Amino acid sequence: MSFSALNPRKSPIANANAPPKIATYEITAVILNPSPHSSNTIHLNKLYKRIDPVSAVESAHGRFSLADHFIVSKQSIISVSLPQRSYEIVIALNGLNQLGSRLQSLQVGQKVLVVSNPAIFRHYGEGAIASLSAAGFSVATCLLPAGERYKTPATLQKIYDAALAHRVERSSTFVALGGGVIGDMTGFAAATWLRGVSVVQVPTSLLAMVDAAIGGKTGVNHPQGKNLIGAFHQPRLVLIDPMVLKTLPPREFRAGMAEVIKYGVIWDADLFDSLEQAPRLERLAALGEDRLQEILTRSCEAKAHIVSKDEKEAGLRAILNYGHTIGHAVESLTGYRVVNHGEGVAIGMIAAAEIASNLNLWESTAPKRQTALIKKAGLPTQLPTGIEIEAIVQALQTDKKVEAGRVRFVLPTQIGSAIVTDQVSTHVIRSVLKQMEIS
Ligand SMILES: NC(=O)c1ccc[n+]([C@@H]2O[C@H](COP(=O)([O-])OP(=O)(O)OC[C@H]3O[C@@H](n4cnc5c(N)ncnc54)[C@H](O)[C@@H]3O)[C@@H](O)[C@H]2O)c1
Ligand SMILES: [Zn+2]
Repeated sequence: MSFSALNPRKSPIANANAPPKIATYEITAVILNPSPHSSNTIHLNKLYKRIDPVSAVESAHGRFSLADHFIVSKQSIISVSLPQRSYEIVIALNGLNQLGSRLQSLQVGQKVLVVSNPAIFRHYGEGAIASLSAAGFSVATCLLPAGERYKTPATLQKIYDAALAHRVERSSTFVALGGGVIGDMTGFAAATWLRGVSVVQVPTSLLAMVDAAIGGKTGVNHPQGKNLIGAFHQPRLVLIDPMVLKTLPPREFRAGMAEVIKYGVIWDADLFDSLEQAPRLERLAALGEDRLQEILTRSCEAKAHIVSKDEKEAGLRAILNYGHTIGHAVESLTGYRVVNHGEGVAIGMIAAAEIASNLNLWESTAPKRQTALIKKAGLPTQLPTGIEIEAIVQALQTDKKVEAGRVRFVLPTQIGSAIVTDQVSTHVIRSVLKQMEIS
């Protein structure tokens, strides 16, 4: 059955005509034994498009005869092109050291407010402040209690108080140093303080790096629902330093990997292949620097691309909700504790894949490949015990993605593309969930 036969009112959303990829590697050669007359860093201002950084280094050898005098740091720069406010996502090992100079080149005002939580600030606060101070910024900090349950209007007040105390001006910048919770709250505070100041996202969790920090969705929770109070407010820069993942709790790392797998399924078949080739996915240490850089780059490219085409979620951006329909239901029915967001998404992707296969939208062998990846990432593939299928079916009705009483699902049609449809019967949902119960 083709999609148009399934849902004649809507046209398929896929990335068949996706423009070329936009990531580049910038090679920085650092001379280890600099002569007194040369600067100790040479920036090769040439962008090497999608070539192996090692061959780029070899060509640099030829030009500069640096022999073995330099080390190379990989860096990807992805642009998020928007009609009003384009910005860059920079992915660089030890990128935190570049925070001050990158902010300087944005020509923002001198005052900066760094927002973080104590657990993250303990590791990275000093480095961030040192980089900002060295670039001449006047820095104040605001530490918020850690955790989703503090993502509330009451906690925002702390950011506003700090902004007032530091006399933040229209030209000032908020820097969000943390996971998605810090990013969403700081972004919303920046959207509303003085009717809008700049925000720079420095995501520290894998989930925030590949998803939450990009795209300008900001907000806080209402007791009745997640992210009900919010605004679109695009960052001026997203600065990703993969080194900070070393202190991320392993379960949070796996949760972020669920979103990475999501991009592989709905958007980037090459990313999916790369994940399949990776011997292991469940731990940072098992991944290796190169594969991590690739995963981050490709995931950010996917999000950047989708957001560039549909900033305010009028259509295409909805495909980012792949796995989230049933995922959210499972997450909320288990009180956000038993199953975290990424685990919910993993379960939701298994369910969506089975639904797609049931409707003959996705060839029957493909869901198995997805399941293998989810298992390799150490994520769940079955429903948690004690959760009623009827409760999930009920919860779907209250989801934000319900339109005119019908639940909207994102379903893959092949690896690398997906469609949005509201034509999934409750009967199919029930039977797929039944197969996912732990027997
Ligand atoms: N704006 C968006 O488009 C968007 C997209 C997806 C998710 N979100 C939001 O993001 C939030 C989830 O984000 P999250 O998964 O990053 O959760 P989180 O911000 O709660 O971070 C998870 C935990 O890891 C800790 N942590 C983060 N980085 C660390 C590091 N480098 N070292 C040590 N500890 C670290 C945090 O303190 C926290 O305890 C949710 O509120 C969700 O609504 C927003
Ligand atoms: Zn998500």
